[in-house]
Amino acid sequence: MDKFHIRGGRPLYGRVSVSGAKNAALPCMAAALLTAETVTLHNVPYVRDCMTLRRLLEDLGATVLTPELRTHKISAAHVEVLEAPYELVKTMRASVLVLGPLVARFGRARVSLPGGCAIGTRPIDLHLEGLKKLGADVSLEAGYVVARAPQSGRLRGAEIEFSKVTVTGTENLMMAATLAHGRTVLRNAAREPEVVDLAELLNRMGARVRGAGTDTIEIEGVESLTGAEHTIIPDRIETGTFLIAAAITRGELEVKNCRPEHLAAVIDKLRAVGVEVEEINQSTLCVSGKDRAFVARDVVTEPYPCFPTDMQAQYMALMTQAEGTARITETIFENRFMHAAEMMRMGAQIEIEGHTAIVHGPTPLMGAHVQASDLRASASLVLAGLAAEGETLIDRVYHIDRGYEKIEDKLRAVGAAIERIR
Ligand code: EPZ
Repeated sequence: MDKFHIRGGRPLYGRVSVSGAKNAALPCMAAALLTAETVTLHNVPYVRDCMTLRRLLEDLGATVLTPELRTHKISAAHVEVLEAPYELVKTMRASVLVLGPLVARFGRARVSLPGGCAIGTRPIDLHLEGLKKLGADVSLEAGYVVARAPQSGRLRGAEIEFSKVTVTGTENLMMAATLAHGRTVLRNAAREPEVVDLAELLNRMGARVRGAGTDTIEIEGVESLTGAEHTIIPDRIETGTFLIAAAITRGELEVKNCRPEHLAAVIDKLRAVGVEVEEINQSTLCVSGKDRAFVARDVVTEPYPCFPTDMQAQYMALMTQAEGTARITETIFENRFMHAAEMMRMGAQIEIEGHTAIVHGPTPLMGAHVQASDLRASASLVLAGLAAEGETLIDRVYHIDRGYEKIEDKLRAVGAAIERIR
């Protein structure tokens, strides 16, 4: 298992470029199952989760060509297997995104239940309830979801109200509804930019999706969808991670190929803390932590457009360097503070009270041997290591490879002393 070795205390200076958003690429790749024609996706990030989904699509019988590293040409003309096996789904729960498209186009699917992960049980009950409302017969067999369209072979449009905001639940049902007979309305839908990006691709494929980005999405079913070409949006979480990397190392970074409008809540919060963040244009941010005193600010994670749960761990790292006490409340997942214990081993002062972490700062961080537990926790430990005095060794960096493209190369290019130990 690879490790990262970091020598901290060096301010970052220079320019970083943001890759495509993993959480937009995954549903867009799954959407290719809705048509027999080729879907071409550009700016797909070179990360493990996208490789995993590519392999799943190929196991289903689709062909995936990559004429360039970040361009995927997906053709699902000859899909014979309608099953997503446990071995694969357990490594990446987003595989559940093939469920909606498979049932909608082929009338049947057998997808392993994803099982929990480090940050929580993460059920998919809302996905399944929605499929049933669209007329599918859904049963659980030996840890697998088996879903079948009605006798007619086609799902039927329906009104679906989510009892809780679910990003992939919204995406799964939006995809399923594109080929259903009639009109579907999704209420209390997720508003994340990744949902909007998927809707743009679906409409390019001939779907009729309206309202993506709001909490009510309407889909008029059509007979079939065509191929399309689409460029994946930049990753707003990678962008936020680099903003904090500059702040916590007291450096200055120019962040290119990003979309500031997709992380307004994060930018507002960092400015309130005292980080200097300047929007140069629609795709460039300049951030500085130089000679800045940071003030502790509370935060509550909530669905978009509020402060994202995927930035909570990174923000906690910054709060260890801020003056005062910050209360960080996690409302999305039940167990997403595992990074706190590792940061405490580096000298942070954090108390956990239920869903709230209370961070007292500033405290000097000392390098240590730490362990990553999930994707964003790993990123927060990299940030802590960059700010810490001395050397930090981070185990299990495969977590970080799931969602960050060559993060050590990007950080080294702006002055970080970080190397991967295989
Ligand atoms: C998406 O996960 C993201 N993943 C996550 O990013 C992100 O943290 C999460 O949304 C929240 O923003 C992808 O987009 C691939 P949810 P998802 O369904 O869709 C509960 C990362 O770091 N829930 O919005 O799985 C669930 O337990 C990953 O890139 C149900 O109860 O999250 C959670 O508490 C981590 N039943 C809450 O809703 C369901 O059927 C939000 O989950 C579905 C969800």
